[in-house]
Amino acid sequence: MAIQWFPGHMHAARKQVAETMAKVDVVIEIVDARLPWSSTNPMIENLRKHRQRPALKILNKQDLADPKLSRVWYDWFKSQSGVEALLLGEDNKKAAATRISQLCSQLAPHRTGVEKPLRAMILGIPNVGKSTLMNHLAKRRIANVADTPGVTKSQQRIELPGGTILYDTPGLMWPKVEIEECGYRLALAGSIGTNAYDQVDVAWFAIETLCERYPQALLDRYGALDLDKPVEELFAAIARRRGAMLSGGRVDEQKTAELILTDFRSGTLGRITLETPDDIREPLPEEIEM
Ligand code: G4P
Repeated sequence: MAIQWFPGHMHAARKQVAETMAKVDVVIEIVDARLPWSSTNPMIENLRKHRQRPALKILNKQDLADPKLSRVWYDWFKSQSGVEALLLGEDNKKAAATRISQLCSQLAPHRTGVEKPLRAMILGIPNVGKSTLMNHLAKRRIANVADTPGVTKSQQRIELPGGTILYDTPGLMWPKVEIEECGYRLALAGSIGTNAYDQVDVAWFAIETLCERYPQALLDRYGALDLDKPVEELFAAIARRRGAMLSGGRVDEQKTAELILTDFRSGTLGRITLETPDDIREPLPEEIEM
């Protein structure tokens, strides 16, 4: 599933990101803890390396991710040169402002005080929870929180404890997802607009991934299933269990797909991480021209 999804405002966003990055000391990228590699924007990563800026990677939605794999990812990010990492979820956002400020100071210790305040920019692909985090950090509502990729459009600036100045940037997606699994994982997590993919396709991908990585989660949620059966049979069995049938005993494919996607996104299927550092393939999914 190669996804081409690059609305006009995204071009403007890329230019704005490059300009802002030139002026900041630290780049903060929010990724989805359930898919930390696929939700890393290669454009940001390339720009950042080009400009030699250190990074704080925030693995957000950790409350929905597999705790063991979150730890693996946390260690992996920290092992990268010039990178710090922070795990955030619904339960620990209150402490986020202080923690982010401390980690930024570690990454740019030369910037301190009122004369030389540390400047950071925060970005992330749509739906990783950037608006929600910014609302926490600003202690007021500064952007719409909605399940629509790309809702944050204008730039915000807030001050964190310790004087760190944080610049917000619009929701940002790369032009094309070259690696098929990355596209599926992003669609499953809700980071890609619904018009850009087929929900039934993505639900099949969810079933296959769960069979391989979290078989018990499928059984716990949908009851006894023969996981050796082909994916279309498992899909139909789930439809029957959840009453997603049409007249004549046909499967309501759309409804079944929506049920499965909602179960994943809401955490009803359990805490699931879709990839590990072993799944990373080099080079990054999309190279950009500088
Ligand atoms: P964005 O700006 O990066 O596009 O994302 P946004 O903050 O709009 O968040 C997208 C969805 O993710 C929202 O859910 C938000 O509540 C949820 N979210 C953000 N951070 C976390 C987190 O740490 N854990 C969990 N479990 N969810 C998180 P929504 O259903 O679209 O909106 P709402 O009904 O919660 O308001």
